[in-house]
Amino acid sequence: MTQETPAQETPARGPLGQDGVAPLPEWDAPQIDRTKAHPARIYDYLLGGKDNFDVDRDAAELALAAMPELRAMARANRAFLGRAVRHLAQAGITQFLDIGTGIPGPGNTGEVARAVHPEARVVYVDYDPIVSAHSRALLSAADPALSAVVQADVREPKTILDSGAVHAVLDFDRPIAVLMVAVLHFVSDAEDAHALTAQFVDALAPGSALVVSHASEGHEAGKFGAAREGWNNATSRLVLRDRDEVEAFFAGTELLEPGVTIIPAWRPDHELSAEDLALDYGHAGVGIKR
Ligand SMILES: C[S@@+](CC[C@H](N)C(=O)[O-])C[C@H]1O[C@@H](n2cnc3c(N)ncnc32)[C@H](O)[C@@H]1O
Repeated sequence: MTQETPAQETPARGPLGQDGVAPLPEWDAPQIDRTKAHPARIYDYLLGGKDNFDVDRDAAELALAAMPELRAMARANRAFLGRAVRHLAQAGITQFLDIGTGIPGPGNTGEVARAVHPEARVVYVDYDPIVSAHSRALLSAADPALSAVVQADVREPKTILDSGAVHAVLDFDRPIAVLMVAVLHFVSDAEDAHALTAQFVDALAPGSALVVSHASEGHEAGKFGAAREGWNNATSRLVLRDRDEVEAFFAGTELLEPGVTIIPAWRPDHELSAEDLALDYGHAGVGIKR
């Protein structure tokens, strides 16, 4: 299940190739498995990115065949992340622990947070070596006091919470926003997704925030289940949870209005269309630890 290796804190690397094909010798090539689809690369493909391989595109196309809304869902999810980070930054939070970061693209956590607080501190955590390589390349010129990239597994909260690289950037005596955006659906009930989320909340100072989005069944029962075939050849399988199960992740926090909603409906920045409202294949919310 979980990786046995401790969080890896390797130095920043040079920029990556522009054609989406990794210059492998620079990338810890042995760690990169091109035979299995990776959630980060599937998501990158859905968002129109170029950092994915045939195996990821095949998995995404299989999923899209069953669920054409997936691209719009991916965009809605990334937009939620942006609205949540902007809201929390405007409310005064300057520290962000982004777990399950994904391949950094426009509107990533650091970009949104620093538009509000140029000195915002951000730690990017993902278990996928490709994500770590991209994040490091992106941050190679960044101030190391303000950002870090940690390769670690969300299913090992202690590894993340005890990581020296995390503590070098984030002060746990002050509020931190923990982002678990579109990552907890890769953690099964057997791996106790709710208990591990609680470990993160417990470690936070009052005033901290938990941001979660998560895949759900949606109005066309069975559709996401069929699309999930795409992830069945991936390194992580997708677990669907309903609204109540998503709300349970916020134990120990007070939900901000409007509570846990379908993803496009969390504090939308435009009037929701019928198409937006039909994107009910996931739920999202933000809770504050009091
Ligand atoms: C769908 S992407 C979400 C990216 C970003 N959070 C967003 O919402 O825009 C899911 C990310 O979670 C990462 N992930 C999946 N399982 C993980 C785990 N057990 N530990 C850490 N990261 C994980 C994947 O590598 C991928 O980058």
